[in-house]
Amino acid sequence: MPGISFDRAVDYYDATRGYPPGVAERLRDAIVAALRLTRHARLLEAGVGTGRIALPFIEAGYFYVGVDLSRRMMGQLRQKLNGRTHQAHLICGDVMRLPLSDAVFDAVVMVHVLHLVEDWRQTLNEARRVLRPGGAIVLASDERDGQDGDPPTPRTQVQNAWSAILDELNVPPEQRRDGAPHSLDERFQEHLQTLGAVVERLTLLTYRQHPQTVRSVARRYQDRMYSSCWMLPDDIHAEAAQRLQRWVENHPDPDAVHEPPARIDAMIARWY
Ligand SMILES: C[S@@+](CC[C@H](N)C(=O)[O-])C[C@H]1O[C@@H](n2cnc3c(N)ncnc32)[C@H](O)[C@@H]1O
Repeated sequence: MPGISFDRAVDYYDATRGYPPGVAERLRDAIVAALRLTRHARLLEAGVGTGRIALPFIEAGYFYVGVDLSRRMMGQLRQKLNGRTHQAHLICGDVMRLPLSDAVFDAVVMVHVLHLVEDWRQTLNEARRVLRPGGAIVLASDERDGQDGDPPTPRTQVQNAWSAILDELNVPPEQRRDGAPHSLDERFQEHLQTLGAVVERLTLLTYRQHPQTVRSVARRYQDRMYSSCWMLPDDIHAEAAQRLQRWVENHPDPDAVHEPPARIDAMIARWY
């Protein structure tokens, strides 16, 4: 299995991971500015999904290729494009073995995909292979935990409670996908540097998340909406979901509505 296909998430991905209005466009503009992309830039997104990141680029007329294991996820993006093909090309394939020639793209974009693939080093090697001289790899990551000193967001509170419950149930790391490097792991930077890149880290933008409550976030764990829940055996998941419900009922304010701050951070690898 080359990675974790999001076929099963297609019906709720945009509702649960989508950005508030305007954020995806600001993200596009921040990437364009950081990479100084021209209108003629050729972009590849590895793990394009439903086009959460891709759509504003495509609508602005960029040449954009998306690769994903999940035809169903890309089907959502096709629907959003509604026959307006622009310069978008969607390919069902494995990002560890890109069905693309060497040295074609000015930038390769990856958002929340490296923790899902079987071999993230091979995925970065492939991204490097398809870059033109002077090209860049952008790893972007939604950071929803707030800044140091902020009160924990509902998402963080529930994540911590869920993790403690899985500890109580002695769930092994491979069933909770603890081992895979997430977000902008230091190991990604080290590997990109071994490929000869100069790596920079920056915050691309900040925004307010969609309204959320402890109860609404817990529901997502109970309904297995996050890929971290997909490897759990059904009986373990059912037990963990019940324990999480008890934790919600004992929470002092599970229905308080929060719109926590979030930011999108990036690691940009450039070859000069
Ligand atoms: C969390 S989603 C992110 C989608 C998009 N980048 C975004 O930020 O909304 C990860 C996507 O990577 C895809 N994926 C996982 N492993 C893959 C692989 N080896 N090759 C291609 N796509 C893969 C999944 O099917 C899913 O659509």
